[in-house]
Amino acid sequence: MTKTDSSIFHFVIIFVLILIKIYISAENELVVDRSKIGLTHIPKDLPMETTTLDMSQNYISELHTQDILLLSKLRILIMSHNRIQYLDISVLKFNTELEYLDLSHNKLGMISCHPTLNFKHLDLSFNAFDALPICKEFDNMSQLQFLGLSATRLQKSDMQPVARLNISKVLLVLGDTYGEKEDPESLQVLNTESLHIVFPARKEFHFILDVSASTATSLELSNVKCLLDDECSFINVLLKLQKNPKLSNFTLNNIETTWNFFIGILQLVWHTTIEYFSISNVKLEGQFYSSYFDYSGTSLKTLSIHHVITDVFNFPQSNIYMVFANMNIQNFTVSGTRMVHMLCPSQMSPFLHLDFSNNLLTDTVFESCRHLTKLETLILQMNQLKELVNIIHMTNEMKSLQQLDISQNSLRYDENENNCSWTKSLLHLNMSSNILTDSVFRCLPPKVKVLDLHNNRIQSIPKQITKLESLQELNVAFNALGDLPECGTFSSLSVLIIDHNSISHPSADFFQSCHKIRSIKAGDNPFQCTCELREFVRRIGQVSSEVVEGWPGSYKCEYPESYKGTPLKDFHMSPLSCNTALLIVTIGATMLALTAIVTFLCIYFDLPWYLRMVCQWTQTRHRARNVPLEKLQGTLQYHAFISYSGHDSTWVKSDLLPNLEKEDIRICLHERNFVPGKSIVENIINCIEKSYKSIFVLSPNFVQSEWCHYELYFAHHNLFHEGSNNLILILLEPIPQYSIPSSYHKLKSLMARRTYLEWPKEKSKHGLFWANLRAAINVKLMDQRGEVNHIQN
Ligand SMILES: *[C@@H]1O[C@H](CO)[C@@H](O)[C@H](O)[C@H]1NC(C)=O
Ligand SMILES: *[C@@H]1O[C@H](CO)[C@@H](O)[C@H](O)[C@H]1NC(C)=O
Repeated sequence: MTKTDSSIFHFVIIFVLILIKIYISAENELVVDRSKIGLTHIPKDLPMETTTLDMSQNYISELHTQDILLLSKLRILIMSHNRIQYLDISVLKFNTELEYLDLSHNKLGMISCHPTLNFKHLDLSFNAFDALPICKEFDNMSQLQFLGLSATRLQKSDMQPVARLNISKVLLVLGDTYGEKEDPESLQVLNTESLHIVFPARKEFHFILDVSASTATSLELSNVKCLLDDECSFINVLLKLQKNPKLSNFTLNNIETTWNFFIGILQLVWHTTIEYFSISNVKLEGQFYSSYFDYSGTSLKTLSIHHVITDVFNFPQSNIYMVFANMNIQNFTVSGTRMVHMLCPSQMSPFLHLDFSNNLLTDTVFESCRHLTKLETLILQMNQLKELVNIIHMTNEMKSLQQLDISQNSLRYDENENNCSWTKSLLHLNMSSNILTDSVFRCLPPKVKVLDLHNNRIQSIPKQITKLESLQELNVAFNALGDLPECGTFSSLSVLIIDHNSISHPSADFFQSCHKIRSIKAGDNPFQCTCELREFVRRIGQVSSEVVEGWPGSYKCEYPESYKGTPLKDFHMSPLSCNTALLIVTIGATMLALTAIVTFLCIYFDLPWYLRMVCQWTQTRHRARNVPLEKLQGTLQYHAFISYSGHDSTWVKSDLLPNLEKEDIRICLHERNFVPGKSIVENIINCIEKSYKSIFVLSPNFVQSEWCHYELYFAHHNLFHEGSNNLILILLEPIPQYSIPSSYHKLKSLMARRTYLEWPKEKSKHGLFWANLRAAINVKLMDQRGEVNHIQN
């Protein structure tokens, strides 16, 4: 290995080790939350690996070394809202990793310090300290970013230990008894970017503290009560702010004062370096009549006023609206007040963004106002707006207006309305949560890109609307729409939100017409899971899952009842049950195939013959069951008597006999079982009488040479009367009808009834033939072998 190689190797090893260490430390993050469980002591069962421990909002009054000694990994300890009165910070000396300690909202009156402290975040605010809890050891906390303090007495010297530090934010909470012996200069040494001072609540402001910490760019003051104009020293405090040229962010909250004083505060701030001014939670009383305001020379860009409680009906408000309307700033917010109106600025206004949400403004706001031509954003959310046509008219002169939020009002748009004069510049329009219907689509800003109409009363998007070629995002969720829109009129649509509507069978055309779509949210609709839905489900399955939001979880069948709750993803229907034409074709094809098979079977395998055989066989079985056997068995010695022509004797001897006798069937042949001294006819009759059945092997020869005996016999004896079924005819060869002499009535009638067994030519059919024949004659006979033998002898 060369030297470079080995150093690269070392580097890689070290790098891997660092990675492993990062991995392990991330892995070992252990947050233990024991807040709000009524603890009075630190529990003993804390895991040693704990890195963050939250024991806030309990009743703990003491913290000892042994309580947390073993938590050597502890980095964050939150003990706010407890009852700790005294803390010796050296109890934390073994928790060397500790960098975040929150002891706010306790009852701390004193702390003892320890030299090795090095916190990033130390919060001792909202405690019972008299003097500032700053030890000289704080000097070492070079990492400190946040310091929370509380005191009732401030002294410049107390601040000295932290003077060298560069802190991001200091929170200073002044106790209820603050103010008696004030050192106004005490904050001058503080070196922080952001300072938040909480004055004692419920106490008239008569402090002279200089809050203009020279390094702060951001200042927040809480709890300012100025009701008695002559006693209030707050103006003096504000005047000092001019000394700090860095200050740009100013926040006031929890203000209780008069209208006059409030406007006075605004006027003062107007002439400082402050750029962003925010006032929240204001309670105003008194009246305001002057409308004079000096707008000159301001640095202010943004003014936000949130949550004002006042009696608006106490005096005419127009002076206040006038002061507000003519402000020469860019951003202005008044929200959560009971403001009922706002005037049009009396000259060209620099307003860019106006937020008047959550007030009581009506349709007359900025009516015919020509001085808001620079305005880009107007938020009128949550007011008392009623007729959309008035708002449309209002925007008319706002030539730069790009974004308008008129959501959460009671806006409607009349069917018959013809005035449609939206400002052409509008790009974002939020009309959600109103009572708009389908007719709103008749009048929309032509260049709108983002349109929010969710939570209205829209039932369908009319086909005949003006083209919105720029529309990219459409939100029509929570309406009563029955189908997805077509993109014919919104050719750029890329985001569609249409969940929570009444869409039961969405048309799949959507995906064809809206080919620019990259996100659709259509869940929570009452989908009807029938054949029509399959195409939609198939299309949705084809587009990528990032496009379909909420898929598959929020897409479920609503009807029919049997599918209710089934995710569309799992809903399947066979193509056959959904396509009538296909169904008919399939049935037709099946029938055709069956016919073909049957025909084929008939032609090539003589199916009718088999059927006849099977039919005969079953008939025989049935009859056999009905024969009164006992009676028969007494007189019978043979299963069958066989009569045939000499021409056919080869077949009888080599086929018929072997096949029957191998099954133990006894056969009587008149020449074999011949009784000497009797005529042939007598012998035949003897045989017939002792046999269960008589078999005639029919062939043209047989008809010519043998049948004559039987015709005669049948004529005289009634032995084979109709229906006695003792006859079995085997048709060995076909006998043409004409070759039967006309005197053979019996034969003719037998042949006509076709009650014969045909001897099949095909060898494959012989098995069935024999089985059938045997079944016809097989009956259990009494063992009369002796007698038979006797006859044979
Ligand atoms: C004014 O408000 C708009 C919208 O809230 C914001 O984007 C912008 O940064 C603000 N401008 C200033 C100067 O505060
Ligand atoms: C429209 O306003 C509502 C609140 O009224 C808000 O939730 C929604 O996000 C806004 N829509 C858009 C597109 O900004």
